Amino acid sequence: MKGINPYTPGAGTRPEPLGGRDQQVAIVRSLADQVDGGREANPIVFIGLRGVGKTSLLYEIRDMLRQRGWMAGYYEVRRDVEPGQAIRTIVTDSANELPNSKLRAALPGALARIGGMKLALGPAGVGFTVDTRATVPPDPYDDLVGFLRSLGKVAKDHGTGVAIIVDELQVFRKRDLAILIQALGALRDLPIMFIGAGLPYLPAEMSKANTYTERFRFERLDYLTAQDAREAIIAPAFKQGVTWDSAAADRLVAESDGYPYLVQLFASESWNAASGDTITENAAGQGLTVARRLLDSGLYAARYERLSEGERQYVDAMAELMPRTGKRVGSGAVAAHLGKTLNGLGPVRDRIIRKGVIHSPTAGQLEFSVPGFVDYVRRRNA
Ligand SMILES: Nc1ncnc2c1ncn2[C@@H]1O[C@H](COP(=O)(O)OP(=O)(O)O)[C@@H](O)[C@H]1O
Ligand SMILES: [Mg+2]
Repeated sequence: MKGINPYTPGAGTRPEPLGGRDQQVAIVRSLADQVDGGREANPIVFIGLRGVGKTSLLYEIRDMLRQRGWMAGYYEVRRDVEPGQAIRTIVTDSANELPNSKLRAALPGALARIGGMKLALGPAGVGFTVDTRATVPPDPYDDLVGFLRSLGKVAKDHGTGVAIIVDELQVFRKRDLAILIQALGALRDLPIMFIGAGLPYLPAEMSKANTYTERFRFERLDYLTAQDAREAIIAPAFKQGVTWDSAAADRLVAESDGYPYLVQLFASESWNAASGDTITENAAGQGLTVARRLLDSGLYAARYERLSEGERQYVDAMAELMPRTGKRVGSGAVAAHLGKTLNGLGPVRDRIIRKGVIHSPTAGQLEFSVPGFVDYVRRRNA
């Protein structure tokens, strides 16, 4: 009999084990080796579409670094958050998990009070508490650098490193992003490593913010290869003594295109549809039907409904043109179809890109950012 569904469709829901990302984890490990060896490491930022597995990868990296005894904290940027606030949260997050108790003991003294930021050891002696009433000054740059500098020195004295892990970097206001980048540039002599993630338009955005980004290493995170997708489908079930019919697994690999969120969703619904300890082609077919219905009322609908009227017209035009153009369509063709100029439509296109519905894989070309979305738009407008 089947046990609990082992699949993890969602946002930031890390599959166990995390497959297909060994290369990315190895890159960070070697950067950490560099830092531990007293050299500096360039900041690294993972770039990829929503649902491709950035957050899951960052969690994996955070845990890997913590196992090495590093202070590693994760933070997801939300709108209108100062970089100072982000750093405070990261420090709190990492300090709570500090494996190295000597380092932990050294922290409160060093970090008790730096500029507008206050950190104090909680009454239980474990977690840190952050004084949220402390005001962040209008120009937080000096405080931020001072704070990180103290933190980096404590880590250095204890022969370890600090990892600042920031997700959804594209959400930072440009000014705040610039402050953060500038601060990292000023701390290159300390064992502080920056690891970030963001949507594909982030690198262009960052280079506008500050020239120091030339030193950033951008790593693209792609869909899973067919082999890794297959493994992600089969391995979690196998651990519970459930096997996939080969054709059923193949079908899900093909239908998901290796897009991690769909891999999880399709596998999860197939699991639910199966009875006994084999997932058959028939169960996979039923699972796909349920999953499509969920997508139509969930992810696809949510993305479409976030669009304004003008943005919907643009997206509808793309969907109408695609039977002729394939997976991609030129922005010039969209403009012609709508009887407007390319320049006039630029701002609309950029807003849709920012909302994560479309992206531009090469200059002048556009693509929908989640497999199956084009069919949804057509069904919706039929
Ligand atoms: N390497 C992977 N293999 C299989 N599924 C994955 C992998 N990475 C992420 N996922 C799944 O994909 C979905 C999106 O992951 P998430 O990390 O939130 O992506 P992102 O942060 O890029 O939007 C989740 O359901 C997650 O379980
Ligand atoms: Mg994410």
